[in-house]
Amino acid sequence: MSSVFETAPSAAAIPITFVTKATWDAIKKELPAPARRYAEDNGFAAKPGKCLALPAADGRIAQVLFGLEDDGHKSRDPFHPGALPGLLPAGVYRFANAAHDTRLATLAFALGCYRFGRYRKNEAPDIRLVPPDGIDAADIGRMAGAAALARDLINTPSNDMGPTELADAARELATRFGASFNCITGDELARDFPLIHAVGVASTRAPRLIDLCWGDPAHPKVTLVGKGVCFDTGGLDLKPSSAMLIMKKDMGGAANVLALAQMVMDAKLKLRLRVLIPAVENAVGGNAFRPLDVFKSRKGLTVEIGNTDAEGRLVLADALALADEEKPDLLIDLGTLTGAARVALGPDLPPFYTNDETLADRVAAHAKEENDPLWRMPLWPAYDAWLDSKTADITNAPSGTFAGSITCALFLQRFVEHAKSWLHVDIYGWTPSARPGRPEGGECQAARAIYKLLSQRYA
Ligand code: BES
Ligand code: MN
Ligand code: ZN
Repeated sequence: MSSVFETAPSAAAIPITFVTKATWDAIKKELPAPARRYAEDNGFAAKPGKCLALPAADGRIAQVLFGLEDDGHKSRDPFHPGALPGLLPAGVYRFANAAHDTRLATLAFALGCYRFGRYRKNEAPDIRLVPPDGIDAADIGRMAGAAALARDLINTPSNDMGPTELADAARELATRFGASFNCITGDELARDFPLIHAVGVASTRAPRLIDLCWGDPAHPKVTLVGKGVCFDTGGLDLKPSSAMLIMKKDMGGAANVLALAQMVMDAKLKLRLRVLIPAVENAVGGNAFRPLDVFKSRKGLTVEIGNTDAEGRLVLADALALADEEKPDLLIDLGTLTGAARVALGPDLPPFYTNDETLADRVAAHAKEENDPLWRMPLWPAYDAWLDSKTADITNAPSGTFAGSITCALFLQRFVEHAKSWLHVDIYGWTPSARPGRPEGGECQAARAIYKLLSQRYA
C-alpha cells in the first residue's frame, strides 16, 4: 500500500476546515462573500459528516468544509474525518484547523482511504493528505499500512486464502523484516499438535502451524498467537448457511497478529517476537473429527469434542501450549472465537481477558487512546467447572449457551501456565456496515491498541 501522505511540500494543498454547530458562525463570517453565499445557497449546515467544497473565483476548489460533532457530544466519533476520502475528489489536501483529536483524525483519514481492490479495478480517486504539524506521520502510516494488511487478508475469499496462502503471507512478512520462518504441515502435526491436526484433517488443504521469530534473543519475549481458521463450516456440527456466509473472516485473529507483528518489526521495538498461527480449514469430510471424539492435546490434557464448531479454541490451545513452554514475558492471543462475544458487546467492541490487573488497565487505556475499542470481561472462576467432561479432562463446548465468550477464555486459560502475563482477545474482525474510517468488510481490531501498549512497555 502506498502511503496516503503527501511528503513533498505542497503549497497548493486544498484546506479542509472542520466546523461544528458552535464554531460555524464565526468561521462563516471569515469566508469571502461569494463563498459564504455559496455555502448558504447550498444549505450547508454544520452537521456531523456534512461536506461541502467551496469554489474560488476561477471555479477551482478553494477549500472544503466538513462538519463534526460539538465538543463533548455524547456520541462523538473521533474517526468522523475518516469519511472524507469517500467524499472528496482526487487531490492533495491539508487540515486547516484542529479536529477534536487531530492525530486520530489523521489516522481515520488514512484508514478511510482503504479499498479492497484484488478482484476489480480500483475506481477510488487518488487522495493525498499533507500530514498536520506535530503529527508522527510515519507512525500513522505504519498503523494504516498494518490495518490494510489485516483487511486484505480477511477480505480475500477462502479459495484464495487457505492455510498455504496464509503461510505465504507470514513468510513474506518474515522475509521483509529478516525474521526466521518455520511451518509444520499436515500429518507432521499429528504427534505434537493433535488438536490442530484434528480440526484441519478433513480439508484437502493441509493444516499448518506457522512459526515466525524476530528480534534480539536477549530482549523480553512476546509471543502472539492468532486463530487462522481459513474457513469455518462448523465441521460435522455444520453451520446454517446464514452463519457460514462470513466465515472467510475466521482467520481474523491470524490477520491481526500479522498486522501487529508488522508494526512491531517496522518500529523495531525492543522485544523478542514470536508469532504462532495454527492455520486450518474446518471442513466436512469422511475423515473429519466428530462430536464426542477425545484427543490428547499437546499439553497432555485430554479434550472431549462437545461441538466441532468450537474449533478455534482447539487450534489455539495447542499453539498456546507451545508458546507457554518458553515462559514468555507476555503471551497474547487473538481470535474470532465466539458468537457470544457479539451478543454481549456487538461487532465493534471486542472483549479482552487477563488476570494481570496492570496489563488490563494498560490495554483499556491504549484501546481508548487509539480508538481501537476493547472491553474487559472476567475470567470468572466459578464457571471454570462448566468445562468438566464425564469422559475426558475437559470439553471444548460446555452444554448450554450462557457466558460463551467467558467459557471459551476459561478453556484457553487451561493451556497457559508459565507465561508471565497472558492476554486473550475475542475479536470480530469485521465491519458489518461501513462507518467513517471503517469500510465494510475485514477489520483490524486490537492490533493498534496492543502495538501502542508494546511500544510503551518495551520502549
Ligand atoms: N468462528 C466462530 C465464531 C463466530 C461466529 C465469530 C459468528 C463471529 C461470528 C467459532 O468457531 C464458533 O463457531 N463458535 C461457536 C462456539 C460454540 C459451538 C460453543 C459459537 O460461537 O457459536
Ligand atoms: Mn466454529
Ligand atoms: Zn471459528
